[in-house]
Amino acid sequence: MRHKLALIGFGTVGQGFAEILVQQSEALGNQYGIDFVVVAIADAVKGSLADPEGLNLSLALESVQVKGTLAEYPDTPGLVRGWDSFQTIRQSGADTVIEATFTNIADGQPGLDHCRAALEAGKNVVTSNKGPVALGLADLRELAQDHGTRILYEGSVMSGTPVLRLAAASLAGDEIEMVRGILNGTSNYILTRMEEGLGFEDALSEAQKFGYAEADPTNDIDGYDAQFKLLILAQALFGVELKKKDVFTLGIRHIGADDIARARRDNRRYKLIASLEKTSSGIVARVAPEIIPLTDPLTGVSGAVNALTYRCRLAGDITIVGPGAGRTETGYALLVDCINLCRGQI
Ligand code: HSE
Repeated sequence: MRHKLALIGFGTVGQGFAEILVQQSEALGNQYGIDFVVVAIADAVKGSLADPEGLNLSLALESVQVKGTLAEYPDTPGLVRGWDSFQTIRQSGADTVIEATFTNIADGQPGLDHCRAALEAGKNVVTSNKGPVALGLADLRELAQDHGTRILYEGSVMSGTPVLRLAAASLAGDEIEMVRGILNGTSNYILTRMEEGLGFEDALSEAQKFGYAEADPTNDIDGYDAQFKLLILAQALFGVELKKKDVFTLGIRHIGADDIARARRDNRRYKLIASLEKTSSGIVARVAPEIIPLTDPLTGVSGAVNALTYRCRLAGDITIVGPGAGRTETGYALLVDCINLCRGQI
């Protein structure tokens, strides 16, 4: 089966996805009978390419990695350059649009309009972009239903660690009563390094150097990144559309070396915990530092790693631990969504 893709956004995640396609395309053909063909790439900074016959992804990656733009991609008879993201979405002939532009937690743009345009044009959407999913999932799902398409967004929470699909597919028939976890790698990294004796600012600099932190690290440190992931989980797990103001949000900025040392002396650890709990008065959503005992499975989750515990009525507590970010990890989340889209699965 030939499945045509258009990539909107060719930064770290878009390139990570393209690299996986280059490496895995033969295996995907053999194992699943799927031939993913990228017919267009559009990036606001790097430029755009479209070819209905399919682009050579190795050459597109080489152009970007050597020159920083798509300008070095060789001319071919069917090649179109210069379309903007909306022309690319509407005119490239793609079956599915991969939305991988930057996350904007203020209003979700331009990702939100990209997703809307794609669904309205009868394309599926696969995205790892938290902005449009956190702020517009209910509307986007409705649009998808109206146009007979789908929107998949596994990578928007914990990148390639399959938390959304675990709940939707493997916990079908159970009732999730509560979910709590470590959803921000940067703040977990900072807390871990502070336990090891580093100061807050130095630990933050390291997190930035390793690429864990958002462009504006305030989103990580003050809990907004985890808050956004809770908005997505509330929709995905409970079908509840929470607003940012519905989530009590407190970050880790006020935690000092003394606090961390005191917790350690008590055999406990500080973790920035994001949680959603079903109560008789609705979903209670909260992001805040907690001092948790060593017996909690989340206590041992160190560094930039994420984890989520599902409290299930039938299956009990289930904790999944894994990467929450990364070029290849998030690229993989896009791939697994594309595969499941083609297979007609969740
Ligand atoms: N800045 C985020 C984190 C990246 O630290 O977890 C993934 O959303």
